[in-house]
Amino acid sequence: MDAKERIDQLRAELHRHNYNYYVLNAPEITDKAFDDLMRELQDLETARPEYMDPNSPTQRVGSDLSKNFTQVAHKYPMLSLGNTYSESEVADFYERVRRGLEGEDFEICCELKYDGTSISLTYEDGRLVQAVTRGDGVQGDVVTDNVKTIRTIPLVLHGDYPRLFEIRGEILMPWESFEALNREREAREEPLFANPRNAASGTLKSQSSAVVAARKLDAYLYYLLGEDLPGDGHYENLQAARAWGFKISEHMQKARTLQDIYDYIHYWDTERKNLPVATDGIVLKVNSLRQQRSLGYTAKSPRWAIAYKFQAERARTRLNEVTYQVGRTGAVTPVANLDPVQLSGTVVRRASLHNADIIEGLDLHLGDMVYVEKGGEIIPKITGVDTEARDESLGEKVRFITRCPECGTPLVRYEGEAAHYCPNDTACPPQLKGKIEHFISRRAMDIDGLGPETVDLLYQQGLIRDVSDLFRLRVDDIKGLDRMGLKTAENIVSGIAASRAVPFERVLFALGIRFVGETVAKKLARAFGSIDALRRADMQALTDVDEIGGRIAQSITAYFANPLNRALVERLEQAGLQFSRTEEDMAGQTDCLAGQTVVISGVFARHSRDEYKALIEKHGGKNTGSISAKTSFILAGDNMGPAKLEKARKLGVRIVTEDDFLQMIDES
Ligand code: IVH
Repeated sequence: MDAKERIDQLRAELHRHNYNYYVLNAPEITDKAFDDLMRELQDLETARPEYMDPNSPTQRVGSDLSKNFTQVAHKYPMLSLGNTYSESEVADFYERVRRGLEGEDFEICCELKYDGTSISLTYEDGRLVQAVTRGDGVQGDVVTDNVKTIRTIPLVLHGDYPRLFEIRGEILMPWESFEALNREREAREEPLFANPRNAASGTLKSQSSAVVAARKLDAYLYYLLGEDLPGDGHYENLQAARAWGFKISEHMQKARTLQDIYDYIHYWDTERKNLPVATDGIVLKVNSLRQQRSLGYTAKSPRWAIAYKFQAERARTRLNEVTYQVGRTGAVTPVANLDPVQLSGTVVRRASLHNADIIEGLDLHLGDMVYVEKGGEIIPKITGVDTEARDESLGEKVRFITRCPECGTPLVRYEGEAAHYCPNDTACPPQLKGKIEHFISRRAMDIDGLGPETVDLLYQQGLIRDVSDLFRLRVDDIKGLDRMGLKTAENIVSGIAASRAVPFERVLFALGIRFVGETVAKKLARAFGSIDALRRADMQALTDVDEIGGRIAQSITAYFANPLNRALVERLEQAGLQFSRTEEDMAGQTDCLAGQTVVISGVFARHSRDEYKALIEKHGGKNTGSISAKTSFILAGDNMGPAKLEKARKLGVRIVTEDDFLQMIDES
């Protein structure tokens, strides 16, 4: 292959990987493999400038720009760091710095490389005035309102801070919040976030700052920019910034020798597993700002800093079999069954293969030696195949199944979705069991004493096939099953009985109609008042409800069009569940804010923001995150941001104080 052919090949490959990474959030290769390809292309392009192309993947950095935010140019471009993967590359960096500084003494500040989404914050006179995402490095999205909901980012500073400066850092979703969020999303049948980085960047770009506030993001700041910073030391300046109110990592350390740097790397390579947030490497920075200036920048990154990426832990093992799991929604997930192998402290026997396209992309054969990685993901995944170790005569190619492994129904693939589904949602066992588990869950019917294991047991025993069977269970049916005592059996039956009081909106959510999550169920309950009215509603009536679109409406009409579902609802009605709103639900509700869109801003004295949000909804209004021409009024507390005030003034939007609002809805 000549140079031109290789260049074209690399460009095509890198374009595809870029798309997988940024658009689909589903990278097929490791960061290291990606960087290697990019480096090879860069080298070839430097050697053969005649083949330069302004659209080559080397000519752009990834972008997170989106159309719904205002964009601004960064005062100082947001560059990325050069990556290294080995100690010898770190030594090369150290040597380059030494030569660049012509023998002068220098210190290296060692820091953790936080794996989130980067942000640039501007402070003027001690107040946060703007928060901007990295974007394409030259300009980014203004996400100030969303960022203001992050508790660890100070809105107002204290102490002796410069009048005007920028501080950059990383917005993160701690592991704990990430796992809780995914559990909730699973319950609502929403797609899961693959890792905390995607969850953090997705959240930051949310159109509703209330969503951002609920998601518990965190932030570490690691880079100060400005004309009048306190001193010449990067490390020392960040310690000062901590005193102004910023969250600065406790784990920064200054190194004088290469060995100090190696020690830091070795320590954190294992210790990072105990941190509450994801990290993917170490960042090394020349500490003196004067020396940083003298070293300068290449076109893309500083010469005074570098990232060392941790090796994603990877193991090589044999693929024995691919089995298929059917979830509550009927989605079919292929699972690789492996020879047990040790990986980051646990024994891995199974790994997710996600969907048919991934299997095809890997060209998997049974008996293949495969690479398994844990990375930032919860479930280990297969990232590659050792094709050289393949014995072509042995393993057959893995082909995705065409029928449901549980009930034999031919699988379907909906347009635009990667997953295959079993469409038999009224008889396929895991779908039935899953529906019952959802029904009893805390946010739905919240039935005490019942959990997934008991549901499984009752299902195995043939005692329940759908949720209406629960209401016919008697203590005698249950006690004695699998060492279940009388007391436990009584608890289960009384827990089920008590759920008859659960209000209509939660019963509606508990039915598990596709796309009808908690919020949608609330809206529908409010709009229609009863299951009868909802059942009779046509597409038009459904989509007339605020925020109910065609996809949800279609799912609801399809649900009630199925006679099996209608019969189920009837049995539940006979069992005594709440299928209409009661006086109590409606108590205190008015329509005095009907049709009004309200933005909440600032800090309040009498109620929390969440309480105000609930009050707006209770009185028929709608709460949104950002001010537009459609905003009816702003419910403003103290410290409403200057940018918001300005926008409200421009658009002529009315500002309502806390007390006026309470009077308006007569709740003072
Ligand atoms: S310094 C000019 N320090 O890694 C130097 N970056 O490719 C600016 N990152 O975009 C970056 N932890 O999002 C720096 N302690 C740290 C970091 C860090 C994470 C991210 C940041 C940046 C990327 C570099």
